[in-house]
Amino acid sequence: MSHLSATSQVTDDQMRRYAKMIYEVAGIEISPAKKQLLSNRIRRRLKQTGIADFEEYFKFLSKLPTSHEEWDGFLQEVTTHETYLFRDESNWKWLRGEFIPEIQKSGKNSLRVWSAACSTGDEAYTIACCLAEDIRNLSAWRIQILGSDIGIGAVREAQEARFGERSMRLVPESLKNRHFKRVGDVNVWEPNAKLRAMTSFRQHNLLDRLSGAPFDLVFLKNVLIYFNVDSKKRVMKNIEQTMKPGGFLVAGAAEGIGDLMGAFQRIHPWLYQKK
Ligand SMILES: C[S@@+](CC[C@H](N)C(=O)[O-])C[C@H]1O[C@@H](n2cnc3c(N)ncnc32)[C@H](O)[C@@H]1O
Repeated sequence: MSHLSATSQVTDDQMRRYAKMIYEVAGIEISPAKKQLLSNRIRRRLKQTGIADFEEYFKFLSKLPTSHEEWDGFLQEVTTHETYLFRDESNWKWLRGEFIPEIQKSGKNSLRVWSAACSTGDEAYTIACCLAEDIRNLSAWRIQILGSDIGIGAVREAQEARFGERSMRLVPESLKNRHFKRVGDVNVWEPNAKLRAMTSFRQHNLLDRLSGAPFDLVFLKNVLIYFNVDSKKRVMKNIEQTMKPGGFLVAGAAEGIGDLMGAFQRIHPWLYQKK
């Protein structure tokens, strides 16, 4: 049982060691100013695990492989998972107004999309919804949308795909009625079979290279804001290597990657095309 009081904090030395460990595993920078917040979050893990104090928990985590469930529980506490369908209107205007019409004209009939750091999958299902709505002769297309996140819990939720009112609030009514169905009598929605068939989810750390066929389109939003320049560089190198020449990258407007995009042409502050 933890003997810590509800306000006890990590020491400065523990703060440095925890921050270093989080940075090495996930690329995320935790500033010393977040000491109280980090302490509160770790205290929740102490309660869950029955570990006595910050030091013992640090030693426990250091010895575990990062694939262990406890690492997932810990990372869930130190990362934000905020997401919702149709987040950032400009992205979807571009996707529906320019990208989809262009690929239809090109004579292609296959498409690979990656929603990197997808949290609970809202972005991946938004992409699927737009494609299902706009692509003519959809059954003749081979569409693969991969969602990935470092959090196993987030990936499980994405696979389960249950979206409440808050997540669904920006989904246009007509698209909601055509591509989602209500679960029971409550205000919870799930994507229909067409959307599910296009999407798959897996655990993946952006600091590692993702293997597999290259992507035509990658969404990388609201994740690198927590990374420092070195880890951003590492992620961008990995992302670039997974993309086809001419492929598009949709980034968060505040991702802070503008200076690292030598391999891309900037089209909007949030949109890049691989050269
Ligand atoms: C705020 S959510 C962004 C969700 C979605 N992209 C959006 O913009 O709505 C950030 C996600 O990044 C994930 N994340 C943090 N570090 C990561 C890493 N090193 N590799 C993969 N995912 C990571 C977190 O688990 C979290 O689910």
